[in-house]
Amino acid sequence: MERWNAQSLIGSLEWRYAVKKFDPIKRLSEVEWRALRQALVLTPSSYGLQPWRFLHVSNRDLLKKLTPASWNQNQVEDCSHFLVFCGLKTFGEDHINTFIKRVAEVRRQQPESLENYRKMMVKDLVVAGRSKMIEQWASNQIYIALGNLMTSAAALGIDTCPMEGIEPEKYDQILGLPDQGLKTIVACAVGFRSHDDKYAMALKVRFKETDVVKEV
Ligand SMILES: Cc1cc2nc3c(=O)[nH]c(=O)nc-3n(C[C@H](O)[C@H](O)[C@H](O)COP(=O)(O)O)c2cc1C
Repeated sequence: MERWNAQSLIGSLEWRYAVKKFDPIKRLSEVEWRALRQALVLTPSSYGLQPWRFLHVSNRDLLKKLTPASWNQNQVEDCSHFLVFCGLKTFGEDHINTFIKRVAEVRRQQPESLENYRKMMVKDLVVAGRSKMIEQWASNQIYIALGNLMTSAAALGIDTCPMEGIEPEKYDQILGLPDQGLKTIVACAVGFRSHDDKYAMALKVRFKETDVVKEV
């Protein structure tokens, strides 16, 4: 594994900002887009359960319909790749079973040998434990994917704009998500900044490190 050095990591994170104006002509190369897809797939999640789907909306008509459901933010249509981060409409034992099958397949294990692991997850997320806050739990996982995507993109010199300024119910309807057992959580525009996006020049506003990072 090749390591990033501290300087290039921080340089990338300082370079990135939430782009307001994308260059509508500049597109990600296939290699770049493949890398970002893999970054999404490689996102870690609680128990490894990956309670998500990532929808790349490339259809121009759909993008046009999504704009008014996105506070008319023009990033939706101007970016290179527009992604909708979706959660499962109902998270339950089915998903856990599908995951267990996948673990067994990838690690060449007998599904029966994973039964205790499976039961523990069902107890925690479906029956008791955190089942009452399962939507929040799933949403938390999806936001990890969003963060992972933004950082990965920045490392490759690719811009993003995370977008919560959207109407999830309208997105669901436009994209026909309920029929696929999905619902919208958050979105992210990916592409390249326009040379005249004035936000690129704005100083980053963050609380002081000493105020937010503590040692006890
Ligand atoms: C989850 C999330 C949702 C956001 N939603 C929007 C949005 O809908 N539109 C937008 O222009 N910026 C959006 N932002 C960008 C933030 O305003 C921005 O990240 C923040 O002000 C910090 O600035 P920076 O990302 O440029 O460093 C969002 C950021 C996050 C993390």
